Amino acid sequence: MENKLLIPVLLGTAREGRQSEKAAIYVSEQLIAAGFDAPLVDVRDYAVGVTTPPWIPSEAFASWKELMGRADGLVIVSPEYNHGYPGELKIVLDSLMAEYARKPVGICGVSSGGFGGVRVVEQLRLVTINFQMVPLKATIQFSNIETFESAKYDEGVKKFCEELQWMATALKNAR
Ligand SMILES: Cc1cc2nc3c(=O)[nH]c(=O)nc-3n(C[C@H](O)[C@H](O)[C@H](O)COP(=O)(O)O)c2cc1C
Repeated sequence: MENKLLIPVLLGTAREGRQSEKAAIYVSEQLIAAGFDAPLVDVRDYAVGVTTPPWIPSEAFASWKELMGRADGLVIVSPEYNHGYPGELKIVLDSLMAEYARKPVGICGVSSGGFGGVRVVEQLRLVTINFQMVPLKATIQFSNIETFESAKYDEGVKKFCEELQWMATALKNAR
């Protein structure tokens, strides 16, 4: 049997009472239904509070390093905080470098308002390019997350998964 593509889904906020968790669980479930191995990864598990760059050996980030070393890509589900990304997400991302290279990244934004975190999605594109990742054109913007209705997103997720499958396969073959 062909091995499934491994695409961790990283939930980008550790905030108490976070609503983004609903979107992250949904995205992970949808990717699994589409045939990916898509474990949900929680920044709370790496809430070290200070930046630990990849050249500093760190027990705290060992499992993240191991997982991303094996991964075929990454999906980030992040709320928008003051038009940017949560600091704890950036700390987790900044803990690695080589493990991300030449892999696709799909970015999903979350907000309580109507824009679905569109500004954080754009910011994360720029950050992930510096990891030599390939951001998908397809994105998912979860708006009005307090009244989350998953059916609204099913069509968009399908396109997102198709692009992810193509890009992850192409890049895996090329690496
Ligand atoms: C510190 C902070 C800053 C925020 N800034 C924004 C923002 O810039 N744009 C926005 O659409 N929502 C903003 N929000 C509201 C979030 O969209 C809302 O909390 C939503 O539920 C997603 O975040 P959560 O996973 O923390 O719940 C902010 C929330 C917090 C806690």
